[in-house]
Amino acid sequence: MRLIFTIFAILCVSLASLSGSSIQDTNSSFVIQNNIDNSRFIRSKESDEQSSIWYIIAALLSMGLILYAFRKISTQKAKSIGGVRVGEYLKTDLHSHLMPDIDDGVDSLEESIAIIREFEKLGYTKLIVTPHIMSHRYPNSSKIILAKLRAVNNLVVENRINIELEASAEYFLDDHLIELIAQRDILTFADNYLLFELSYASLPINLDSMIEFMIEHGYRPVLAHPERYLYMIGDIERYRSLKRAGVLFQLNINSLAGYYSEEVKRFAQILIDKGMIDFVGSDTHHMRHFKTMQQTVKTDLFRSIFQKNNILNQTL
Ligand SMILES: [Fe+2]
Repeated sequence: MRLIFTIFAILCVSLASLSGSSIQDTNSSFVIQNNIDNSRFIRSKESDEQSSIWYIIAALLSMGLILYAFRKISTQKAKSIGGVRVGEYLKTDLHSHLMPDIDDGVDSLEESIAIIREFEKLGYTKLIVTPHIMSHRYPNSSKIILAKLRAVNNLVVENRINIELEASAEYFLDDHLIELIAQRDILTFADNYLLFELSYASLPINLDSMIEFMIEHGYRPVLAHPERYLYMIGDIERYRSLKRAGVLFQLNINSLAGYYSEEVKRFAQILIDKGMIDFVGSDTHHMRHFKTMQQTVKTDLFRSIFQKNNILNQTL
């Protein structure tokens, strides 16, 4: 590939200098010929036009070379992301269920610590842990979550794990969320981001008004795993309209492994190709999720996210 590059560069430089000297020759001959006869003048003008064409070809080839080099550099950069130290690039994971006994996540403090240690090995430096707040199934509150955070964090310090822990929540979009927003009792992260999820069964009829409500109250809604809502994934215009309304999208890394289904994986690819992803998250509930993610971050599909999307994990 380097050889092709070099040959291409030499070709461009040669063409540019050839066309330059050709124009000089043509100009001098033009002065003499102008004094001799008009027919030779016409031939000289034709030669001048030919030189201009060479100039254009050389310019186009040079532009192609520059674009090719630019593309090559960005591809190389994207390829260096991923693998066993992906956390060194991402820095922060913003979606996981690592507080024991309060949702469908880990079952014990030991399991929690074991997984957090694995995140450290992967190069992550910060975890924003997000237990479900779902009034009909996991009736958690800010108070319950912050108490759990203290317990887990004490063990993280005791075990000398070099990870900063922060607590937020994954809010289910329902009437309870409206109440919490009205009371300003929301565990946000970074710049007032609010992670929320939808029902897997059907599209909430008040989705648009709820998003407006969040934004009016100063929150920045982040939709958890947009690729997983099967009733919506054929309707890309629905997703575009959510983005226009100010919703950011958080993709689950394991969706790229086909962990949830092939359909989810295919739609995840569509969102990636359209450059619609803002965050990538692990959504880790247990060690099996983590191990799957550990493999998924080594794939070209995972790396392709960074070629086509402006991922914001590092900013959290
Ligand atoms: Fe989740």
